[in-house]
Amino acid sequence: MPETEAPSRPARRLAGRVAVVTGAAGGIGRAIAARLAAEGAAVVVADIDGARAQATAAALGPAAIGARTDIADEASVAALAAVVEARFGRCEILVNNAAVTDACGFGDLTFAHYRRVTAINQDGAIRVTLAMLPLIRKGEAAGRRILNIASIQGVRGARDSLAYGTAKGAIVNFTRALACDLADEGILVNALAPGFIDTPMAALPDGSHEHDAAWFRTIYVAHGRIPLRRGGSPEDIAGPAFFLCSDDARYVTGQVLLADGGLSATF
Ligand SMILES: NC(=O)c1ccc[n+]([C@@H]2O[C@H](COP(=O)([O-])OP(=O)(O)OC[C@H]3O[C@@H](n4cnc5c(N)ncnc54)[C@H](O)[C@@H]3O)[C@@H](O)[C@H]2O)c1
Repeated sequence: MPETEAPSRPARRLAGRVAVVTGAAGGIGRAIAARLAAEGAAVVVADIDGARAQATAAALGPAAIGARTDIADEASVAALAAVVEARFGRCEILVNNAAVTDACGFGDLTFAHYRRVTAINQDGAIRVTLAMLPLIRKGEAAGRRILNIASIQGVRGARDSLAYGTAKGAIVNFTRALACDLADEGILVNALAPGFIDTPMAALPDGSHEHDAAWFRTIYVAHGRIPLRRGGSPEDIAGPAFFLCSDDARYVTGQVLLADGGLSATF
């Protein structure tokens, strides 16, 4: 093979590392888990849907395990940490990905709705981080990473997702504050903020998909409000997620990387 030719298989740059990915039974989480597994990590697929978590883990290979986990529930998250401790005794990579969607503007907002969304999307990530930190501290020094999946809605406003946007904004600054607190220990903390990605979360209330909606195809694609003129796929997010979890990101912490086809670069 000529020296310039790219290898056809992943280089397994995460061999020997343990990764926990929440919400990994489908969508973006599954794509990230698959990429980390392809790079050699032993992956824990944690999801509230236990059956799909097990099925995803089985598809990723013998080094992956599934764990039914509700990130909004203290006992469930403690059980996840106990499983990881018993199986691996440590964890190098935590990806806080699990979240629920929201379709509620301020006019319809109730405090109960706000608390339900933030209890999962905001408190859930912090709860899992607290539970996993002792195991991350036992991980291989050079490879310890926490990656929080935020959203373009954590850095920009949008109609009709007030609780979601509030939670994602909190995740962005949780990332920065935690990065400062853990820097002396060499644990790197970053956020990845996707734009419009083709997953079940992007389904509209009527069951159709936002990528197929006339407003999306007109404004974002035809008129180039997304400069790359397409919505993203879960695999478009898995690549930058892998980078932020890899040794190549060793001088990157407290950052928010937007993977949005250029959406946030325009006005
Ligand atoms: N799809 C997008 O356009 C988009 C855009 C920006 C950010 N994001 C973010 O990306 C992440 C993944 O989203 P997605 O689009 O893949 O969504 P998705 O709905 O396809 O997947 C979310 C996963 O999280 C799981 N989950 C939900 N509640 C949970 C809980 N309490 N505990 C554990 N698991 C739970 C679900 O079972 C599901 O497998 C989320 O943080 C989301 O906010 C998505």
